[in-house]
Amino acid sequence: MIRPPEHFETARLSARPPQVEDAPAVLAAYAADAEVTRYLSWRPYQAVEPLADFLQERVRSWETGQGNFAWLLCPKGTEEPIGSIGCTIEGGSVMFGYVLGRRHWGRGLMPEALGHLVGWALAQPEIFRAWAFCDAENAASVRVMEKTGMCREGTLRRWHLCPNLGPEPRDCIVCSKVRRAAA
Ligand SMILES: CC(C)(COP(=O)(O)OP(=O)(O)OC[C@H]1O[C@@H](n2cnc3c(N)ncnc32)[C@H](O)[C@@H]1OP(=O)(O)O)[C@@H](O)C(=O)NCCC(=O)NCCS
Repeated sequence: MIRPPEHFETARLSARPPQVEDAPAVLAAYAADAEVTRYLSWRPYQAVEPLADFLQERVRSWETGQGNFAWLLCPKGTEEPIGSIGCTIEGGSVMFGYVLGRRHWGRGLMPEALGHLVGWALAQPEIFRAWAFCDAENAASVRVMEKTGMCREGTLRRWHLCPNLGPEPRDCIVCSKVRRAAA
């Protein structure tokens, strides 16, 4: 089983596994913000307890080496979460998801984090595909994917439920970066 690095650093970020004790800081940084969660698969959290339960599941993934591996993104040199990125490994593919506190949007931080992990993924001999999808209207997220060198593959129609936008599954854009076969 492939296991991503528990910690990584980029030029401006330190990434570490979440802990249950991070729930209040995560709530304050991004998880309660309806603007942030607009296109996500979860509704904004309104209290610490359910968020702590969610973080406990992520802790368990690191313990068992299975499921969704999530990191909290912190300004380098701090332990203070400002966002999160996660991945699920299935066969030769790694799928990513990410979220950043609104105060930190527009500085290229998420492309920095995602680009690092895409680089890690495609350096693994067992991984051939790094990919992500987002709501078709989430232009900022499409841009993040493109800035990491992913290519737009197409639209997955009626693919993803955004509970903040209604009860029906919505169209999504899927992007990927793949390792080419040696010539
Ligand atoms: C998507 C998100 C992670 C972007 O992170 P970020 O660190 O702010 O990304 P960037 O700083 O690279 O900025 C986003 C890019 O999208 C562009 N952009 C932002 N809003 C846009 C819009 N409405 N239309 C077109 N482009 C837009 C920006 O101009 C920038 O591109 P540029 O550098 O070429 O100018 C952040 O906005 C976020 O957390 N959003 C809420 C959660 C979310 O949607 N996650 C993705 C789920 S798949």
